[in-house]
Amino acid sequence: MTTQLTRRALLRRGTRAALFLAGGAALAACGLSPAGTAAPAGTTRPARAPRQPNPGFVPDVEIRLRAALAEAAILPGRPTQVWSYQAELLTGDPGSLQAIPGSFLGPTIRVRRGQKLRVHFSHELPGTDTRSIVHWHGLTLPSEQDAHPRHAIAAGQTYVYEFTVADRAGTYWYHPHPDMATGRQVYQGLAGLFIVSDDEEQALGLPSGEQDLALVIQDRSFDGDNQLVYAAGDPMAGAMDYLMGFLGERVLVNGQFDTSIEVATRAYRLRLLNGSNARTYKLGWEDGTLLTVIASDGGLLERPVERPYVTLSPGERVELWADFSGRAVGSELTLASLAFEGAEGAGAQELSGMNSADAGGHGGHDMGNTGGGHDMGAMASTMANAPAQGAPLTVLRVRVTEHAESDDALPSVLSSLSRHRIEEAVNRDKPRSFTMTQPGVRWELNGRVYEPDTIAADETVRLGELEVWELVNALNAGETRHPQGMLHPFHIHGLQFQVIGREVLPELRAGWESVSAGFVDEGWKDTVLLMPGERVRLLLRFAAHTGTYMAHCHILEHEDMGLMRNIEVVG
Ligand code: C2O
Ligand code: CU
Ligand code: CU
Repeated sequence: MTTQLTRRALLRRGTRAALFLAGGAALAACGLSPAGTAAPAGTTRPARAPRQPNPGFVPDVEIRLRAALAEAAILPGRPTQVWSYQAELLTGDPGSLQAIPGSFLGPTIRVRRGQKLRVHFSHELPGTDTRSIVHWHGLTLPSEQDAHPRHAIAAGQTYVYEFTVADRAGTYWYHPHPDMATGRQVYQGLAGLFIVSDDEEQALGLPSGEQDLALVIQDRSFDGDNQLVYAAGDPMAGAMDYLMGFLGERVLVNGQFDTSIEVATRAYRLRLLNGSNARTYKLGWEDGTLLTVIASDGGLLERPVERPYVTLSPGERVELWADFSGRAVGSELTLASLAFEGAEGAGAQELSGMNSADAGGHGGHDMGNTGGGHDMGAMASTMANAPAQGAPLTVLRVRVTEHAESDDALPSVLSSLSRHRIEEAVNRDKPRSFTMTQPGVRWELNGRVYEPDTIAADETVRLGELEVWELVNALNAGETRHPQGMLHPFHIHGLQFQVIGREVLPELRAGWESVSAGFVDEGWKDTVLLMPGERVRLLLRFAAHTGTYMAHCHILEHEDMGLMRNIEVVG
């Protein structure tokens, strides 16, 4: 298939319209539903000067963080070119920065609640005309520390973050957040963990040191030369991959393929982050052992909870108490992603379904006869070999290699967690609602795509007011979609929220039930999965800062397409 337009050329034109409507036009030429009205301009106007250090701020921890080209050994043979966060500790406890050996992931930043952090972030990716900026996912920070796209810097520039870590102990993470290029930058390797501890958590004596393991789960596709393959190289293939969300062919854990870890016969704290662009995992031990969950996005739960499996969508975290003390030395167990149903997502099955519908000349997906010399086979090619959303996968093998005597005991109470009360919400009878729809070849939130400089009336909230929000994954009868629709992990910047209710359309209940026993809604959350046809109610309060935040789908291709809006917090 021949293409004149590269994504970079489209980006140079500088608008979401150019990027995604060109893809949409290509899809329309393929017989898909046409793209709608022109999308607004993107962020090519010159950014304001990058934030500089404030001499009055005295950091406990000071880090130089670079986004730069690197090579990683992921598959046997040739190293893979990646983009990677590389860091150097300038001030502070040497334990504040922990590299993950052999991984393209950025070093894990470990800090205590209350510590002051200064990070000099430099965008040093050569040959890229896209901006970058670092988002501290899950932390409650002033808007200028939170990676609004208006703060994104050009290659060669440095942005200085200075903030006090105000959040509870927990597993947070950092990743790029430039408008329209987040998916690509994360996919190329830019991401790292940000782990906070505090006194309440320390007093529990949870497994620490070598028994505190963080596992970042991502999926990637590689070409025959071990290089990363992503949707964006081609607007024709790219448009489909963006619409569906990019699913990779192989599961990586901490940047390694075919990962196994060695453990002793004792308890571990496993911190799991789904750092994938679009894939949701239904994580379970293959032998059916229950999972004991001790924390979610915003830190420790009140008490441990048990689950047959944990459903982890992009951006979400859980922490497990995994006790291997009853296991025999020499035994092995597998953490798998179990099969689930109900969510459309391109991958081998899905795309071949489309292609066969096309070849048979029937079915709802009229994607044949391209007119422009393109065909669906070529269009679907970047994800043609990827397992579909919901396909079973092996994630991690755990090998018990050592005997250990220990008296690890799971605390029955983990934390005191203050519950929001719906009676106190200013809009208890009239939730603020956010509906995700797909009118044609794009995604919208309440009928709008992302515009960096626009805030609608229903996107302004008052500092300190408790609100009920209702998120709606609407059923779209769009021509590009299967009746069951897609899942969307919805993320809100600037706070942690509580999930107070879920409802699903009766006709989509079966798919929902294939993942719902794995939701962990007991604690603080910043990202919540909505299955097709689902509504989720939240209680939340922007309590700390006024300024511009964002709410978006954490399928990064959806975010880049504009399934995101600003949320303005006013005093
Ligand atoms: Cu982890 Cu706005 O994203
Ligand atoms: Cu975030
Ligand atoms: Cu989405």
